[in-house]
Amino acid sequence: MQPIKWEKGRLLLIDQTRLPHREEWIACTSYREVAAAIKAMQVRGAPAIGLAAAFGLVLGAREYVHLPGQDYQKRLQEIAAELAATRPTAVNLFWALEKLMRVAEEMAEQDPFSIAGKLEKAAEDMLAEDLAINRQIGAYGRQLFHFPARVLTHCNAGALATAGYGTALGVIRAAHGAGKVKQVYACETRPLLQGARLTAWELLAENIPVTLITDNMAGYLLQQKMVDLVIVGADRIARNGDVANKIGTYSLAVLARENGVPFYVAAPLSTFDYRIATGREIPIEERDPREVTCIMGQSIAPAGVAVFNPAFDITPAQYISAIITEDGILRPPYRERIAALKAQRER
Ligand code: MRU
Repeated sequence: MQPIKWEKGRLLLIDQTRLPHREEWIACTSYREVAAAIKAMQVRGAPAIGLAAAFGLVLGAREYVHLPGQDYQKRLQEIAAELAATRPTAVNLFWALEKLMRVAEEMAEQDPFSIAGKLEKAAEDMLAEDLAINRQIGAYGRQLFHFPARVLTHCNAGALATAGYGTALGVIRAAHGAGKVKQVYACETRPLLQGARLTAWELLAENIPVTLITDNMAGYLLQQKMVDLVIVGADRIARNGDVANKIGTYSLAVLARENGVPFYVAAPLSTFDYRIATGREIPIEERDPREVTCIMGQSIAPAGVAVFNPAFDITPAQYISAIITEDGILRPPYRERIAALKAQRER
């Protein structure tokens, strides 16, 4: 499953708000449509929104090729800012846009046609690289499975959240391929049900044994020794190893520690934000109260009730047994390991 395709100058996205009941694709022909699709979560998941935004910038770059050099650069910056304003927590969005904007700035002296062409190539490379990175994360991550394991996951860090294959689900896929997965428990992930709608759909399609639970059942499963390991994705990782991920992740990490179950995070290096020291600096998106008062459009709460709807939480590094990246498996102490990783990348 590859949820993002670039075909003949159009960005094709599988509409994740329609899954699992309908497999509909939307075709974006302007950066505005891409920004709207990210906001509406028709495309979602940290790497996927970065990739979509990159192609959004390509669409914008193609639309304004008639502008003279300096105006063109200014317009690209405005488009990048608009795309960056769609969602605040996942750093991959900013990472992808900054990477492409560096390409545009380095070519500032060249004509807009060449710049737009180069941006398109850079976005296509990013898409292909993300798929390769996820497979590499899967290859490393499956080493953490020592016997056919019962795994708990949260939200959707699968093919749908990436260029394909997935991060946390990529590890599960790779481990399953090696005969090391006995059972996957998928938390439904209220309010938007990414676990019930997307993770369950992806795993069923590949005959990976999956059992759906509501979020508040996870503690019971852990206490009953029904889970051997927990694995989740990430939206942003601070320099000290604190991880932002879908709301509910922190509770799982604490419950896993309490019950002696390893808690793993799988994420590409583009999810590390070296600019921030701890998770306290990560902006947490707050979304529409109707996501809490309604389930799939059906109201479940009395009109007028107050609602709090944070979309992510921060899991402190101390609860994380390992972080699986395309460069290998990081173990605590994360501050030192992440600093070494950064230094190695800059060399
Ligand atoms: O709000 P969402 O659905 O975009 O949140 C997604 C998650 O929290 C994922 O776990 C995370 O982005 C990692 S995806 C590989």
